[in-house]
Amino acid sequence: VLAACAASPLTAFAAKPLVIGFSQVGAESEWRTANTVSIKDAAKKAGVTLKFADAQQKQENQVKAIRSFIAQKVDVIAFSPVVESGWDTVLREAKAAKIPVILTDRAVSVTDDSLYVTFIGSDFVEEGRRAGKWLLEHAKNTAPDGTVNIVELQGTVGSAPAIDRKKGFEDVIAANPKFKVIRSQTGDFTRAKGKEVMEAFLKAEGKKINVLYAHNDDMAIGAIQAIEEAGLKPGVDITIVSIDGVKGAFEAMIAGKLNVTVECSPLLGPQLMQIAADVVAAKPVPKRITTQEGVFPAEIAAREFPNRKY
Ligand code: AHR
Repeated sequence: VLAACAASPLTAFAAKPLVIGFSQVGAESEWRTANTVSIKDAAKKAGVTLKFADAQQKQENQVKAIRSFIAQKVDVIAFSPVVESGWDTVLREAKAAKIPVILTDRAVSVTDDSLYVTFIGSDFVEEGRRAGKWLLEHAKNTAPDGTVNIVELQGTVGSAPAIDRKKGFEDVIAANPKFKVIRSQTGDFTRAKGKEVMEAFLKAEGKKINVLYAHNDDMAIGAIQAIEEAGLKPGVDITIVSIDGVKGAFEAMIAGKLNVTVECSPLLGPQLMQIAADVVAAKPVPKRITTQEGVFPAEIAAREFPNRKY
């Protein structure tokens, strides 16, 4: 028996590495880049074979990628959905093929929640609420009549973070009628669009704008450029509240150009690898795994900067 074992190839005894097909939204922001790095690094460390597909912010590319993962018979499909709706058909196909699906970062809106095993990610409504609460407590920029005129840069239309961050923020500021959202438009979570839309806001409203609420740091950073080019001081003439907590936001806060960032952690890779292994081993997993996060105002940015991982 020993001789037979010695002669056999080692692979015959080694456990088969887990194969995960992952469909990423794209590379639209500093946050997204950090998320991709986290997932790729964690897969490498866990010895997982990762099939990675970049959807370039298009739902149709994600549907194609998921179908290709089904055809390749991967062990687990994971994805961060570009938008919330329109997933029922392809997720039913994955279920019929008996391939478990894990959502990371963003949720889907489906009629049957057995179409996915679990969702790992932030509470975006709570992030919007935190942004609103900070503003209610710290609003010093007001119009002559005492109103606080807010412009809002929304994330990708139809995406969970854009819907939820808008809702959470609005729920909180509704408590005080002097806070008014005077313009709200999508900047698609990118710096370029954030700048472009802020330029349009400034053209239309000029010095009436007291506050910018941006659904992510990248759009806020793009908007900062537009504000400076308009001859105003970002963070001083216009209070800026954004979400993510990327290093670029900390640099902007240290430079006095951004007032606060609400944290949204992209470091989901290690959790995804662990949960995927548990799912394949038929261990029970929670339906919702919520990331723990904080709020970082400009006053503590310099102190916190060395601790930032993304
Ligand atoms: O889904 C998370 C959001 O998507 C992040 O806030 C944003 O930066 C990213 O593009």
